[in-house]
Amino acid sequence: MKSKADVLLGLQWGDEGKGKIVDVLTPHYDLIARFQGGPNAGHSLEFEDVKHVLHTIPSGIFHPSKLNIVGNGVVIDPIILAKEIHKLTEKGMNVQVNLRISRKAHLILPTHRILDAASEAAKGHAKIGSTLKGIGPTYMDKTGRNGLRVGDTEAADFQLRYEFLRNKHIEMLRLYEFSDFNLPDMEKEWFEAIKFLKTIPTCDSEYLVNQALSENKKVLAEGAQGTLLDIDFGSYPFVTSSNTIAAGACTGLGIAPNSIGQVYGIFKAYCTRVGSGPFPTELFDETGERMRQAGKEFGSTTGRPRRCGWLDLPALKYAIMINGVTRLIMMKADVLSEFDNIRICTSYTCDGKNLDYIPYDTNQKVLEPVYIDMKGWKTDLTAFTEMNQLPQSFVDYVNFIEREVGVPIVILSVGPDRKQTIIRQPL
Ligand code: GDP
Ligand code: IMO
Ligand code: MG
Repeated sequence: MKSKADVLLGLQWGDEGKGKIVDVLTPHYDLIARFQGGPNAGHSLEFEDVKHVLHTIPSGIFHPSKLNIVGNGVVIDPIILAKEIHKLTEKGMNVQVNLRISRKAHLILPTHRILDAASEAAKGHAKIGSTLKGIGPTYMDKTGRNGLRVGDTEAADFQLRYEFLRNKHIEMLRLYEFSDFNLPDMEKEWFEAIKFLKTIPTCDSEYLVNQALSENKKVLAEGAQGTLLDIDFGSYPFVTSSNTIAAGACTGLGIAPNSIGQVYGIFKAYCTRVGSGPFPTELFDETGERMRQAGKEFGSTTGRPRRCGWLDLPALKYAIMINGVTRLIMMKADVLSEFDNIRICTSYTCDGKNLDYIPYDTNQKVLEPVYIDMKGWKTDLTAFTEMNQLPQSFVDYVNFIEREVGVPIVILSVGPDRKQTIIRQPL
């Protein structure tokens, strides 16, 4: 019998807690595969009082018997990947056993990172707020058909091809009048990392994944970023450069649409965003600051403070629609425990009209959130593991959201640790 791949992805602006939940769900799967993004991602997971942050490697890696694949849709900075692997090796893990890298994944060159910085500098106030990991320029070379892939590192003329692309980038940097970099040092580090990368097992991930499905093995596709950062459906241009949505799992791994099973959508009980771009429910006051402190809302990749605000239901419904979400997972409700009153945005006011959808130009138009208020639960949730322990006001909050969006919330996460997870409905 052939099985279907489940997809797990973020429904907001990233950092919803994907890493934690992939780690929690991994025992139910044989194979975990990242399908897009690159080291702009920071996926944290915590167990036995240690926090781990992954950037490129799938979050199932801490389960040695499960195969973890970096798919063709991912862009890889060999320097960052090598550092990630060294950290795991120091912890006694052997990634030779359970990590495979797609030969078709594109490589982030040092000059991609420099171009990212140059592009942001040129934009001035209109900058995206990129993580500066070279993501945009690398995907541009991919779609421009100029990119270098992991499999190319084996080619006899790899060095020449590298130099050809690098020289093109240097010309582009001249146009930007950007000279704030030391390329020889960056290149030395990069080529050392390429040498190391060649010791990590590669694969043709589309064959590997489809073979696994045909053997009825269980596959979980792990997304990075979030739906509202999607290149097509996010708040363009304040987005990342890949398709973060469920369709990205098809192109980023070579899975046919009719081989997708469950789509797990993860959202925080509130909203956060790092970088620039519209955020209708953003709080600029003390309440936002309290959320940031209670939720430790500082970026896993860049350390930047995350912008915080109340849950945005029209945005959540939009994300559920685009992804065909079948099961929801609500994260970090414990962060809201200190609030007497909890707000949910149910629609927006825009140009004097009430809207329950996201209009085209969210960059120019001001969306004023319309809120409903709910009673806070004022109870520490972090030690609860069962539904019947939960305070009624929290259960009301969960039921309200579920009713509004029409998709079951199957998991409630009430703390960063693996164990702080309540299974609400059988998976
Ligand atoms: P990801 O990018 O979606 O994997 O999310 P990040 O790891 O960037 O950010 C989520 C942060 O919240 C991490 O620091 C997690 O350890 C933490 N976290 C995850 N789930 C919970 C939760 O339910 N409660 C709290 N308080 N923290 C959580
Ligand atoms: P995870 O997987 C949160 C944001 C950046 C910036 C925009 C573009 O940890 O959820 P890029 O570096 O892609 O050019 O940045 O997207 N961004 C993220 N925000 N979580 C992420 O990943 C992000 N990856 C990119 O802050 O606004
Ligand atoms: Mg993150």
